[in-house]
Amino acid sequence: MPTKGAKKKLADLGAVAAGLAHEIRNPLNSLYINSQLLEEMLSALPDADKARKEELLSTAHSNLRVAQRLNDLLSDFLRFARPPSMEPVVTDLNRIVAETLRFMEVDFSRRGIELTTKLHPEPLPLLADEKQLKQALLNLLLNAQAAMEKEPKRIRVVTGLSAGRPFVRLQDNGRGIPRADRGQIFRLFFTTRKNGSGLGLPIVRQIVREHGGKISIRSREGRGTTVTLLLPSETRFKAMISGRSETGLLPERVR
Ligand SMILES: Nc1ncnc2c1ncn2[C@@H]1O[C@H](COP(=O)(O)OP(=O)(O)O)[C@@H](O)[C@H]1O
Ligand SMILES: [Mg+2]
Repeated sequence: MPTKGAKKKLADLGAVAAGLAHEIRNPLNSLYINSQLLEEMLSALPDADKARKEELLSTAHSNLRVAQRLNDLLSDFLRFARPPSMEPVVTDLNRIVAETLRFMEVDFSRRGIELTTKLHPEPLPLLADEKQLKQALLNLLLNAQAAMEKEPKRIRVVTGLSAGRPFVRLQDNGRGIPRADRGQIFRLFFTTRKNGSGLGLPIVRQIVREHGGKISIRSREGRGTTVTLLLPSETRFKAMISGRSETGLLPERVR
């Protein structure tokens, strides 16, 4: 257990990191806008030395992409360090899942990923911040997509009720998570991907916890990964936020 002093120090460090991330944003934005301008100016130049022009254009373009990636990274980090406050409304898990999937469909089919869905036949009422829950699902779908290596690429999404609690399960047949990594995947900045940030799952866990839910992951290397989000029903969530009790929380697991 960290001592009180160590905890305070960690909290201070977190605040400093968030402040720094925030401060980096403005100059980064100018950098982005300038790269964009440069790209436009270069493409307007006459084609006298075409090879040279192409070379400069491609450099300007890669600057643009780097700035974009840094900006995404900072946004995700700030999202984690200063989570937006929850604005829960009564909603339907089926609809949240369907709308998130619709957003990803084009990308999936372009990458040759077969998506199958099996939504619970009745609406699944729950109290949720729709935007945040969609963000969590999106992060999981992006992970599933990134884990795909060889055909056939399949993602299956199921919603249902388990002992009165709504759940959503996302199953992929991607590369799976090696046993040695399983204890690490929720660690901030842990990533095995070249362009990964290691912020996806920590954000998902943060969002799911705020909703009084649990995430469990089951993975087999080389075979695929199944992630289940189990959420409290509308009535249970109301009881939880009024009583601030821990009832109904189930153990998280990664196996
Ligand atoms: N569906 C999945 N299949 C295989 N590995 C996964 C999956 N989801 C997460 N992982 C592993 O967990 C790591 C952390 O995920 P995440 O926090 O989303 O960060 P990132 O996606 O930026 O790497 C990934 O780099 C990957 O090693
Ligand atoms: Mg991710």
